[in-house]
Amino acid sequence: MADIKIPVEPYKIKMVEPIKKTTRNERDRILKKAGLNIFNIPSENVYIDLLTDSGTSAMSDAQWASMMVGDESYAGARSFFHFEKAVKNIFGFKHVIPTHQGRAAERILFQTLLQEGDHVVNNIHFDTTRANIEVRNAHADNLVIQEAYDPDTDYPFKGNMDVKKLASFLKEKRKGNIPLVMITITNNSGGGQPVSLANIQEVSRICHSQGVPFFFDACRFAENAYFIKKREKSYRDISILDISREMFSLVDGATMSAKKDALVNIGGFITLNDDSLAQELKKTLIIGEGFPTYGGLAGRDLEAIAQGLTEIVEEDYLEHRIGQVQYLGELLKKEGIPVFQPVGGHAVYLLADKFLPHIPRSQYPGWALTVALYRESGIRAVEVGGVMFAEKDERTGKERYPELEMVRLAVPRRVYTQSHLQYTAEALIRLYWEREKVKGLKIVYEPEHLRHFTARFEEVK
Ligand code: F0G
Repeated sequence: MADIKIPVEPYKIKMVEPIKKTTRNERDRILKKAGLNIFNIPSENVYIDLLTDSGTSAMSDAQWASMMVGDESYAGARSFFHFEKAVKNIFGFKHVIPTHQGRAAERILFQTLLQEGDHVVNNIHFDTTRANIEVRNAHADNLVIQEAYDPDTDYPFKGNMDVKKLASFLKEKRKGNIPLVMITITNNSGGGQPVSLANIQEVSRICHSQGVPFFFDACRFAENAYFIKKREKSYRDISILDISREMFSLVDGATMSAKKDALVNIGGFITLNDDSLAQELKKTLIIGEGFPTYGGLAGRDLEAIAQGLTEIVEEDYLEHRIGQVQYLGELLKKEGIPVFQPVGGHAVYLLADKFLPHIPRSQYPGWALTVALYRESGIRAVEVGGVMFAEKDERTGKERYPELEMVRLAVPRRVYTQSHLQYTAEALIRLYWEREKVKGLKIVYEPEHLRHFTARFEEVK
């Protein structure tokens, strides 16, 4: 272990939440009842929950204290102005519009901006971004660099946009048809990979030369800034705050899920400079989310976001946070377990088809791995593969599978300790040794849309 860097916590623990170990027999019963779908398992039966890093952070004492002084006035609450000031300090835009979470920000932005047939480009759209575009009958296009799809190379910025493809896409589609270009930092759907500042600069130049607005899906901006500091030489001595400010200076606005890099359990916002667009967004906001100074949140939530944004850019915090994810990745790689390289900012992504090569894609190796991992050790992870993303050929009913079949181990912020991560690694290593015992699955129930949340499965005999 001497060669693996131990993540050392820049905090101590002053409140604990018990978690319960179950027996293998109990978990077998729980899985049967859940239709072999980890989304159907009550969380009290999960020992270590790596389903998501979203809304699962532990808040600091300062955040909890700030909630006590939340101003719950309907309009013009003091807490809104604290929140607005904290967002502006990092993002630097004129307008800050709170929403109850990230996808509400996306819905409001796209509902206002998109016409049928429009195209929105991203490195890779996250599912909710794609869904909010497609319900407007518009197109969600992914133009990430080709390296993003190669899980075995160590390219440092696999989240980068393919700038050549972007330039010709913008020319070909006439700009009127493309109301905005986005970049997701870090690129969640592509392994939590960062985007370099050089790439952001280039995309900004291309978009602005064509008069196309450029936005971030900024959920994990601080983790992206940390990778820039570590991997892009000229930023080695620049603070995370200044790197973040430089990133945001190159875009026209951002949508944000505060449930990630604002260290809170709920919240989001849209921030931008354009006065008339902001006015339109607020009109839509009022119909669905609430008055523009609270946008679906309580005053205390706004306070917690404001405080969280000051903590997220601290380098000690990020060193430990990213360090934890790297640590888990290293423990697995050392034993030859196939993981997406390099390890991302918020999660380790297992290559499930390589972990379980005896299970064909039509029997969902990624999903089978999440079931086996829970059954053997009470750990919950999420499939990012064939069940979540397969496309069905309408004529033949045959499924086309996404390029990568992965299982994401998302690490909640400030929640688990080194021994939890070690336990997770050991469980996966044991499972890897006995991998040929894991069986493929068939779907016995699926809804029409977003089937992974409610589908039910059986083992293939
Ligand atoms: N954009 C990205 C890149 C995300 O990862 C998410 C959420 C959203 C937008 C939507 O934000 O959940 O606040 O509405 N990702 C979670 C995840 C759900 O598990 O990765 P939200």
